[in-house]
Amino acid sequence: MSDNQASLTAGGNTIDMPVKSGTIGPDVIDIRKLYGQTGMFTYDPGFTSTASCDSALTYIDGDEGVLLHRGYPIGQLAEHSSFMEVSYLLLNGELPSQKELSDFSRTITRHTMLHEQLATFYRGFRRDAHPMAIMCGVVGALSAFYHDSTDISDPQHRKISSHRLIAKMPTIAAMAYKYSVGQPFVYPDNKLSYTGNFLKMTFGVPAEEYEVVPAVEKAMDRIFTLHADHEQNASTSTVRLAGSSGANPFACIAAGIACLWGPAHGGANEAALNMLKEIGTPDKIQHYIDRAKDKNDPFRLMGFGHRVYKNYDPRATVMQSTVREVFAALNVQDPLFETALRLEEIALSDPYFAEKKLFPNVDFYSGIILSAIGFPTTMFTVLFALARTVGWVAQWNEMISDPGQKIGRPRQLYTGPTARDYVPLSER
Ligand code: ACO
Repeated sequence: MSDNQASLTAGGNTIDMPVKSGTIGPDVIDIRKLYGQTGMFTYDPGFTSTASCDSALTYIDGDEGVLLHRGYPIGQLAEHSSFMEVSYLLLNGELPSQKELSDFSRTITRHTMLHEQLATFYRGFRRDAHPMAIMCGVVGALSAFYHDSTDISDPQHRKISSHRLIAKMPTIAAMAYKYSVGQPFVYPDNKLSYTGNFLKMTFGVPAEEYEVVPAVEKAMDRIFTLHADHEQNASTSTVRLAGSSGANPFACIAAGIACLWGPAHGGANEAALNMLKEIGTPDKIQHYIDRAKDKNDPFRLMGFGHRVYKNYDPRATVMQSTVREVFAALNVQDPLFETALRLEEIALSDPYFAEKKLFPNVDFYSGIILSAIGFPTTMFTVLFALARTVGWVAQWNEMISDPGQKIGRPRQLYTGPTARDYVPLSER
């Protein structure tokens, strides 16, 4: 067996399988011929050991707490870059020149308006609908409005759809919020930055001038940057799987939004803040730590633990310092931040969390910032979806551009009844 082969003995046969290497990260065993040669599948519920694609976008080393976009560490991007620049980087592979960045930002800005008929679409929802329910519906509905860019085999169509999705998400998200509070929709203002525009559409009202607070704009932009992409997580894999059938990009992103909504994924920031509110004061923390450790109690520390990070999530570090910046800019304090810091300290010194390598993830502190900025908890996952849209479209584009791309079709270990004859109703 050569160095770049793995061998497996199964069903009485020994077969060699190629081992492929990426630029960094674990090698992968190419098992594509396994079924043909052994008649067996691999079994990997939750895909904990399965690479589903090649990707040059994002790299994570969960043990070391490393997150790179196109090679650039997230800490550097969060500190020096902007969400528009990171979007360009994810979509195009390289950081933009000044001209490329202004052209890209202008293109995105010019696509921020929604088809006017979509405003009517919102009115079909109940006022108390969860904004994520509205997001799933409205983003899916975009495919009914933008027919001219849904030929996925045409790179120009893919590019236009990608730009439309990135540009329209803030408008869609802000309108979902406005609808829930009964205020008029605020149209985009192309003088503002991507993030400033979103803040105005969310918190502005037609009756008054809205002034974007630069520190809040910067913090929000950084939060978007921190959420821009995260490799083959559940929602991204959902987008890829949906897209693998040739579905249009608006439908695929709507599928990603649906997956992101779950409390084990994007819904965790909402759940983390609700948990902190429930805990309230630091003296109650130990009780909740004990509950999280109790096998018979389904309670988990929300915002803690991660499928990939078995170390501090590098995004949580940036998020923690951003809390302080936002508090200073808005001159606010939130006792829940003290509770969160103390909870982190107690959990990290507890052997249960140390042994299971459970650390704060990106969601642990984000809710505190978003709440200080004025977002209700129901909007938290919406903001995540807005930012992650760039990662989803970049991953979707990468997949469609791959000449070896196939429809995704996992196998199963069947545990149901074996073949049996139908019993007529009268005999049952
Ligand atoms: N609190 C208490 N115990 C936990 C936690 C937690 N937050 N997370 C994991 N554990 C324990 C599990 O009970 C399990 O214990 P066991 O081995 O004794 O059975 C062990 O740690 C491993 O947990 P798994 O659920 O198997 O780990 P997995 O990788 O499948 O799950 C997940 C990762 C879903 C994120 C999990 O840590 C979790 O539920 N965390 C809380 C929700 C959360 O914050 N999600 C956000 C993720 S980040 C994102 O989506 C942006």
